[in-house]
Amino acid sequence: MTDEQQFQQIAAQLRKPHGEDGLKTAEWMNKGNLHMHRDTISVLNAEAADNILEIGMGNGFYVNEILSKHRSINYTGCDYSELMIEESEKINAELISNGQAKFILSNVDSLPFTDDSFNKIFTINTIYFWDNEIKVLNEIKRVLQPNGKLVIGFRPEHYTVKYPFIKYGFKQFSKEDALKLLSDSGFADADAFENREPDFDMNGEVMKMENVVVVAIKK
Ligand SMILES: C[S@@+](CC[C@H](N)C(=O)[O-])C[C@H]1O[C@@H](n2cnc3c(N)ncnc32)[C@H](O)[C@@H]1O
Repeated sequence: MTDEQQFQQIAAQLRKPHGEDGLKTAEWMNKGNLHMHRDTISVLNAEAADNILEIGMGNGFYVNEILSKHRSINYTGCDYSELMIEESEKINAELISNGQAKFILSNVDSLPFTDDSFNKIFTINTIYFWDNEIKVLNEIKRVLQPNGKLVIGFRPEHYTVKYPFIKYGFKQFSKEDALKLLSDSGFADADAFENREPDFDMNGEVMKMENVVVVAIKK
């Protein structure tokens, strides 16, 4: 297989993990995105009685970190990868059986929830794959309660541009692009945080890591 074919496969797995390689991709994402999860969850600020939706949770490895903040938090994860739903359900079996978490197979374009269902919604590393960002943000706004909070974590364009697989189906965003999308789709009080992460050792190659977390409110 050529390098370019490999990059295409990596991009396809990141977009929608599937098969044996999908399991490995999800584990790799958990390692590489630890700090990004923590930075995003810190802005989300989960509190007692929150009803939280995560879009594109991968294998749901970090759900426990949110739910451990308070017994009364309710978490729903949605993802359009059947494999990621299966894995999330395995990893979080106890949280599902005690009624704190559930996982729903669905596309972010059309969320199977009634209007105003959640008071906090977040998503990490999925914005690159949205075909129509304004349509997706409107759909998220529909299921978010008034005064509800949306938090989006992503790797910024000046960082992602160096990934060799990025040309295979990823859209790239700067902090300013993301803030503009939020205001164009009617969200208020938008703010952004630029986070430098500890270096990440990827098979001997030391990578400098950074992320952006944007937050806004539905008025
Ligand atoms: C790059 S992975 C990120 C996983 C995890 N959030 C992380 O940052 O480690 C993208 C995830 O979003 C899901 N996803 C991508 N596009 C989606 C869409 N349109 N609707 C629902 N899920 C989507 C993929 O199946 C995958 O699990």
